[in-house]
Amino acid sequence: MKTEDSIFLQALNKKPLSTPPIWYMRQAGRYMPEYRAVRKNFKNFLDMCKNSDVCCELAMQPIDAFDLDVAILFSDILTIPDAMGLGVKFLEGEGPVFENPIKTSKDVMDIPTFDPEKLSYVYKAVSNIKSTLPKNIPLIGFSGSPWTLAAYSIEGRSSKSFEFTKNFIKHNEKEAHIFLQKLTDACFIYLKKQVEAGADVIQIFDSWANLLTKKDYETYSLIYIKSLISKLKNDPITSKIPVILFAREPEFSCNEMVQSQADCLSLYWSTKNIDLNFLSGKVALQGNLNPEILLQEDSIIKIETNRILDKFKGYQGYIFNLGHGITPNISPDKIKLLTDHIRSR
Ligand code: CP3
Repeated sequence: MKTEDSIFLQALNKKPLSTPPIWYMRQAGRYMPEYRAVRKNFKNFLDMCKNSDVCCELAMQPIDAFDLDVAILFSDILTIPDAMGLGVKFLEGEGPVFENPIKTSKDVMDIPTFDPEKLSYVYKAVSNIKSTLPKNIPLIGFSGSPWTLAAYSIEGRSSKSFEFTKNFIKHNEKEAHIFLQKLTDACFIYLKKQVEAGADVIQIFDSWANLLTKKDYETYSLIYIKSLISKLKNDPITSKIPVILFAREPEFSCNEMVQSQADCLSLYWSTKNIDLNFLSGKVALQGNLNPEILLQEDSIIKIETNRILDKFKGYQGYIFNLGHGITPNISPDKIKLLTDHIRSR
C-alpha cells in the first residue's frame, strides 16, 4: 500500500472512513518502559534528540507496541532556539532551561541568522524513521509555533503564567515582532527540510496559545502561524503536505481558527461547542479526549471514548487523538485498551 492510501492521509483529505486513524500526542515518551530504558543512557534529553538512530528507535516504539496508524518524528520543539544559540538543557524534574534566554531588546538583534544545517540531525532522524516505517504508516514532522518558541526563549524555562514574557512583549513590541518573524522564517526552512527528508504531514504546536488575550493572540501568534502555513502552501516542495495545527485553549473558536488555513485542527481536551456543521468540508479534526481519562478504570475509558467517537461520527476527516500529550503516569496497558476499543467499535 502506498503512503497516499493510508487511512491517516485519507482522513486529512476529508474522506469518509468507518474507523478513524489513531495516533497519540507524545506517543513516544516516559510512560513506556522501552523509552525509559533508552533515556537512562543520556543525561541531557537534547543529546538524545541529536542521535538520529536513537530517535528512529524511539519513534518506532509506539508503532510496534500499539500498531498505531501514524508515526511522529522523535525530537522536540526547542531544537530551533537551541540552534539559535540559546543553549537549551532539559534538567531532571525541571523541564527545559535556557542558558542564554532573550532578556533584552538587544538580545533579539544579536540572534544569529538561523542556520538550518545546525539541525541536520533532525532531518537525518526523519529519513531514518521514514526508511524503517512500513509504507502505509505516514510520518509527521513538526515544529513549535513562532509564538510558543518565543515564549520559551524569553521566559527561559517553563512557567505557569510566563509573566516575564508578557512583560517583555508589552515593553519591546517592535523587537518582539522582529523575533517572531525570525522564528517564522526558521520554522519554514526547518519544516521544508523535514519534508525533503521524508515527512508526509506537518504539525505545528502552539502549546502556549492560552497565554494571550484574543487581540494579542491575533497579533502575536495567529498572524505568524498564517504566514508560516502560507509559506508552506506556496512552496513547490511543501505545497501538498497537509498541515495540522494544535493550539492549546486559544481565545479564538475553532470556527475562527479555520482562518489559519491549516488542513486539520488538533483539538485541546477542554475545547467545547465545536460547530461541526460549520467546520465540515473546511478542515479535518483530531483529538479532544482528555488524557487524564486514561488514569481511570477501563469502563470509564470506554464510556468517555464512545462519547468522543459519537460526537465526531460521520464527520469527514476525523482522526482519533488525545486533547494533549500522554503523561508519564499513564499505563501503556490503557493505551492498548483505548486503541483496541476504538478499532472494535
Ligand atoms: O511521540 C512524541 O510526540 C515525541 C516527540 C515530541 C517530544 N516533544 C518529545 C519529548 C514532541 C512532538 C514534542 C513536542 C513538544 N515539546 C511540545 C508540544 C506539545 C505539547 O505538549 O504541548 C512542547 C511544549 C515541548 C517542550 C517540552 N519538551 C517540555 C515542556 C518538556 C518537559 C516536560 C516533560 O514532559 O518532560 C519536553 C521534554 C520532552 N519532549 C520529553 C519527550 C519524550 C520528555 C523528556 C525526558 O524524557 O526527560
